[in-house]
Amino acid sequence: MVDVKGFTDLLDPPVYVVTAAADGRRAGCLVGFASQSSLHPVRFVVWLSKVNHTYGVACRATHLGVHLLGREQHGLARLFGGESGDHVDKFASTRWEQGAHGVPVLADACAWFVGRVEERGDWGDHVGFCLTPVDTGAVPLPRGEVLRLSDVVDLSPGHPAP
Ligand SMILES: Cc1cc2nc3c(=O)[nH]c(=O)nc-3n(C[C@H](O)[C@H](O)[C@H](O)COP(=O)(O)O)c2cc1C
Repeated sequence: MVDVKGFTDLLDPPVYVVTAAADGRRAGCLVGFASQSSLHPVRFVVWLSKVNHTYGVACRATHLGVHLLGREQHGLARLFGGESGDHVDKFASTRWEQGAHGVPVLADACAWFVGRVEERGDWGDHVGFCLTPVDTGAVPLPRGEVLRLSDVVDLSPGHPAP
């Protein structure tokens, strides 16, 4: 297998918090694998690790929440990326509201959307959730001020990697 670390190490994408609710359970985790994938219709794909607590809830959910954080919100990133819902209720210590379709929306996110799950793509140890945005919100923030991968390199994933 070709090692693409020399390629991926040059990337510095935004990181997102992806949330879900189903069967009375809430979940959310930090996600670096995500991108808009279509203009017309607008589609956005987030990739969730099959071993994460969030993945199990997301598979039962009709909609997911996708949030951007500001660069000063490292604490929220640490909670969602450094802890697992297998052991911790992340929403007990987070300001959130029930958004469209019951999706937990983080009150302090600088931008977010709720997306309807159109389909899932299983191409490896992460599964792509293809989303159509159905609701969104944002607070004014200069472009480039969102939390990025380079801001969270100190975090160790709360759920062991697959
Ligand atoms: C910088 C960073 C990027 C991450 N990217 C992803 C990702 O793209 N998809 C994913 O499922 N998990 C990703 N994770 C891992 C989860 O956020 C982490 O394991 C989390 O604790 C899982 O929580 P859960 O078990 O409650 O779902 C990332 C973690 C970090 C620190």
